[in-house]
Amino acid sequence: MVLVTGGAGYIGGTTARYLIEKGEQVVVLDSLVSSNIEDVPNGAVFYKGDVADTALVNEIVKKHNIDACLHFAAFIEVAESCQNPYKYFENNTSKALILFNTLKDNGVSKIVFSSTAAVYGEPEYTPIDEMHPLKPVNPYGLSKFFTENILSSFDASYNVRHVALRYFNACGAWGGSGEKHNPETHLIPLILQVPLGKREKIYINGTDYNTKDGTCVRDYIHVYDLAHAHYLALNYLRAGGRSEKINLGTGKGFSIKEVIEVCEKVAGKEINKEIRGRREGDPAILIASNKKAKEILGWDIAYNDLYDIVQSAYLFHKNN
Ligand SMILES: NC(=O)c1ccc[n+]([C@@H]2O[C@H](COP(=O)([O-])OP(=O)(O)OC[C@H]3O[C@@H](n4cnc5c(N)ncnc54)[C@H](O)[C@@H]3O)[C@@H](O)[C@H]2O)c1
Repeated sequence: MVLVTGGAGYIGGTTARYLIEKGEQVVVLDSLVSSNIEDVPNGAVFYKGDVADTALVNEIVKKHNIDACLHFAAFIEVAESCQNPYKYFENNTSKALILFNTLKDNGVSKIVFSSTAAVYGEPEYTPIDEMHPLKPVNPYGLSKFFTENILSSFDASYNVRHVALRYFNACGAWGGSGEKHNPETHLIPLILQVPLGKREKIYINGTDYNTKDGTCVRDYIHVYDLAHAHYLALNYLRAGGRSEKINLGTGKGFSIKEVIEVCEKVAGKEINKEIRGRREGDPAILIASNKKAKEILGWDIAYNDLYDIVQSAYLFHKNN
């Protein structure tokens, strides 16, 4: 069976659903610190608890004969990580270390880890490939960078294999899972709150970047495609694949203005917006090279069209 930590959350929940659909038996371990019991996918065995609860993880691994772990559980807010770095290093790094050690002690030697484009920091070139220097610019990115390094050491010393998947901007909804972060800080759900009457307007933070229309450009990857990549990474490790760090993005960039335009088309109405100054620490352009994911995992992208991505999110938010 597969252990999915953070499997009540947005990406972990979607991936757990995807794995169940593929016939995998899934155990979800989630403390519900940023999710709800009803977000646990149907068909998963659920344990409410912390990834650093060694006794509980020991029990789960033994009882369910766990062969691999997909580790999603983490805190994810960049701004909060700058205000309270301890919270991020504790949960995303220290607790990951404890979890990996418990898994290792129980003979679980395959880990798929949720990493992030934030490990790269300010890009020196785009598209960003996996050889790009790693210079995280905030505690969130650092917490994931440290955890990637822990995994590299576990590989070298204990033969625990991993695939660290560096997601760019996760978005969209699938199988009843969508973005429900509290507070919400991600662009697409924030924009969609405006036509759905939950927010007065969307702020555009800076229009003087060196991009096509002056607003920041990002690579938006559908959560279904992330789930699919996790399934491929799991099977890659089961087939004896060596440890890898792999980007997950579409390789295409959309500016904030372009995303708002697509949201307007999907919602069928104009969206109230206001321009304000730049936010500190926002790089102008973040676009992934996804060549390695395609070559090593055989990954292909189902959601290539931003309209379809936004539409899936819109339908989710309308119904939830
Ligand atoms: N959302 C994105 O755009 C994005 C981009 C890059 C990387 N990531 C990474 O993907 C992963 C999942 O992100 P998400 O957007 O689904 O977040 P989320 O907040 O929706 O899900 C995280 C889940 O982990 C659980 N959790 C947190 N700490 C825990 C702990 N110590 N023990 C047990 N459960 C715990 C929470 O209750 C929640 O259900 C995270 O590791 C995040 O850093 C997300």
